[in-house]
Parts: sequence; C-alpha cells; structure tokens
Amino acid sequence: MGSNQEQGPVWSLTSIMREGSRRLSGIDTAQLDARVILKFVTGFDDAELILRADDQLTENQSETFFKFIERRARHEPIAYITGSREFWSMDFHVTPDVLIPRGDSECLIEAVLAHRAVDKAWSILDLGVGSGCLLCALMHEMPSAQGVGVDASQAALGVATENAERLGLGSRTTFLAGDWGKGIERKFDIIVSNPPYIPEGDRPTMPLDVTEFEPNDALFAGVDGMMAYRDILDDISRLLAPEGLLVFETGDGCAETLVKMVAKTLPRVTVSIVNDLKGRPRGVIADGKSFIEKD
Ligand SMILES: C[S@@+](CC[C@H](N)C(=O)[O-])C[C@H]1O[C@@H](n2cnc3c(N)ncnc32)[C@H](O)[C@@H]1O
Repeated sequence: MGSNQEQGPVWSLTSIMREGSRRLSGIDTAQLDARVILKFVTGFDDAELILRADDQLTENQSETFFKFIERRARHEPIAYITGSREFWSMDFHVTPDVLIPRGDSECLIEAVLAHRAVDKAWSILDLGVGSGCLLCALMHEMPSAQGVGVDASQAALGVATENAERLGLGSRTTFLAGDWGKGIERKFDIIVSNPPYIPEGDRPTMPLDVTEFEPNDALFAGVDGMMAYRDILDDISRLLAPEGLLVFETGDGCAETLVKMVAKTLPRVTVSIVNDLKGRPRGVIADGKSFIEKD
C-alpha cells in the first residue's frame, strides 16, 4: 500500500487482496472470497491477478472492493454481492429474492438427461423455479423442449424470466405465479422440483449466510421438512404424463421417506434415489417409462 495525501491510500492488487482477506478473518473462505470480490471489481481473471499483481487500483475500485468486503464480513453470500452464480456452466443473475443455485443440484439435470433423449419436444414443468436454474439448464440441453416455471414469489419469477431471456430461452419458456401445481390443468412429460425441504427445527444450526440472507420460503418446509413434497404430490397424478419423468431434489436423510411417498402416489412407476457427485442422496426420480432411452 502506498499513500497519497489527496486521494487516500493506493492499493496494489496484492496488497488489497491481503487486506481484504484479513478483514474477512471471521469467514471460513476468506481468501477465496476476497479473490472473487477483487475479480468482480477489477474485471480481471485469476491469471491477470497474478500477472498484474503490482497494478494499482483506482480509488473508486478500492472503495467498492472494501464496501463489498464489509458486506461479506456480515455473512452476505458472495452471489448476492456480485449478483450472479454459475450453474450448469451458465451464468444466472441472482438477487436476495431467489435461492442461490447450488452446484449439487446439477445431479438433477444429469438424472433427467440420463433418462430422456435431448432431441424430443418434451414439455417440462419446474415447480418452485426460483432463479430458473433447473428449468433453463434443461431447456438449454433440450432445444426442442417447451418449459413452464412456477413460483409463489412474484419477485423470483421476475429473476427467472430475466435469466431465461438473457440465455436465449425466453421464447420457449413461460413463467406462472402459483401455489405448486394448483390450477394447472395440463400434463407434462418432465416435472422437476427443488422445493423447500429443511425442517423448521434445523434453523438454529444453519449458517448465517443462509438463514439471514436467502429467502425463508425457499428453505423451510414445516416441522418434518416434507410439507412441500406432500402438497406437490397431491396434484402430481393430474400433472404428470402417463410415461412422464418426475425428479425431486431432497435433503439429507429424507430420500428414503420421499421414495415411499412418491411410490405410494405413483404405484406403477419405478422410483429410485439420485446421488450427487459425492455419492450422497440428493434426489428422487420416478420414471413412468420402464426403460432408459438412449440418444
Ligand atoms: C429451494 S428453492 C429452489 C429454487 C430453484 N429451483 C433452485 O433449484 O435453485 C424453492 C422455490 O420454491 C418456491 N416456493 C415456495 N413455496 C411455493 C409454493 N407454495 N408454490 C410455488 N413455489 C413455491 C420458493 O419461492 C423458491 O423459489
């Protein structure tokens, strides 16, 4: 750091990175977060941060950097600070109105792609669409598909609509405000849903980053965490095409229970657990077709 009497301290990339990490000492991922914020503020990538280590930031850039560091120090998630999060190698705009897309949810996309050919004109329904990450990833992989995204939050629908438009999927995608599938009177070939599934009682043990910043309606689902699944399953026989595919995301420890609930609702359908990359149960899939279709 150098000093300039009129303009205040002058920071190089290296010195501001060090100071940013120091101010984030209460955060587990301090160094990583300081680097992400620095990249966002300067527009540099990882290589440039190294190659241009001695470059000086403008006063405006350092002020913005420290403002963002302060927000992160109060546990605000990085994605809300930068306004974006990557999912399925696509960039999604995120605001505090939507759950931040989780990398682990990508296994739901993989599960759908393992069970259905990508070139068919599938109709896809996403219940609890949030940022639109699941629906947009599927629409991107399935270029002939038509998609409908439902959410109870009008603000979330605004974010999802913007994402679909920006990703070039707007003409094939419709967004509806609603309470899960209630009032929808048509059937879909593929239904995906990552509903809230955290039991209310888990709140005190959860990270502040989540409970204080992410929308509570996207997280919690009653005493046992199964409330949303029950509501959705009430309508699923009406919404799912006879040979349709249903994929739910699940939380730790509730996959077995959900398999039983789905099997009871759709008795003639094969129901199984989807594991994430770490081998942990992360979803439940119910396939109305008795075979796996290859591309
Ligand atoms: C866990 S978030 C999932 C968001 C997104 N699909 C994803 O995977 O990141 C659940 C979403 O369900 C929505 N939601 C909650 N209750 C709902 C209801 N009764 N009907 C429709 N959507 C609801 C929330 O607003 C939230 O956007």
